[in-house]
Amino acid sequence: MPGFLFRLRARLNKVPDAHLYNPTFQPWRGLPRFQSRYDEIRNRTLITPESAWILYSLARQALGSAGAFLEAGVYRGGTARLLRRVIEESGGLRRLYLFDTFAGMPATRGDVDLHKSGDFADTSLEAVAGFVGGEDWIIYRKGLIPDTFAGLESERFAFAHIDVDIFQSVADCCRFIYDRLTPGGILLFDDYGLPSCPGARAAVDEFFSDKSETPLVLHSGQAVVVRHPKRAPEHS
Ligand SMILES: C[S@@+](CC[C@H](N)C(=O)[O-])C[C@H]1O[C@@H](n2cnc3c(N)ncnc32)[C@H](O)[C@@H]1O
Repeated sequence: MPGFLFRLRARLNKVPDAHLYNPTFQPWRGLPRFQSRYDEIRNRTLITPESAWILYSLARQALGSAGAFLEAGVYRGGTARLLRRVIEESGGLRRLYLFDTFAGMPATRGDVDLHKSGDFADTSLEAVAGFVGGEDWIIYRKGLIPDTFAGLESERFAFAHIDVDIFQSVADCCRFIYDRLTPGGILLFDDYGLPSCPGARAAVDEFFSDKSETPLVLHSGQAVVVRHPKRAPEHS
């Protein structure tokens, strides 16, 4: 190792907040408010603190765009409650749509999906509403996506958290939500890079293959798309 790198290493533990670098800066470990938000949901979600931090940060960013928030894939309500907190903390209420069968995975495709019908069935709409909240700005859509999008054709979205894990459901979400994202609106796919969800990645790749946005794939396994304010010219 060159001498200067050796000397740099020796100085690393003097960097401000050195204990939060593991191996790079992990701000969520040092923020009590976020930690308490994550503690509220940790027993009701499968996502890690890192993924929850990314969800929290991007949802806060999306508060700058007009439109409703939505989550497709709610299960026991963990990440939905985090979104509820983001909206509440902003001081101005906006609609939060929550889509799920609340009875487990629908049929899956054996050629691309690893999940099976009936996975995530240990939940119910009543239990989730008790945890996330029953205010009129929180709108539960129980049933099969895309059927449960019916009637929302004129709605516009600032933020969509897509956590449905399987090819057909992710494809249906992209098809309905993408054209209804407001400029600067954000799509966050929870499961793009998870080895348990190859169908989710295939659906995102297929959908965005002819769009001007390129999904940004994160180390957490999530992927992010920010809707262009204006459609960029096609690549030549
Ligand atoms: C991984 S869980 C969601 C986890 C949740 N976001 C969390 O971490 O707090 C995936 C959910 O997607 C739902 N889902 C998948 N495809 C669906 C479809 N076509 N219609 C309705 N719900 C669906 C399943 O019922 C399941 O509850």
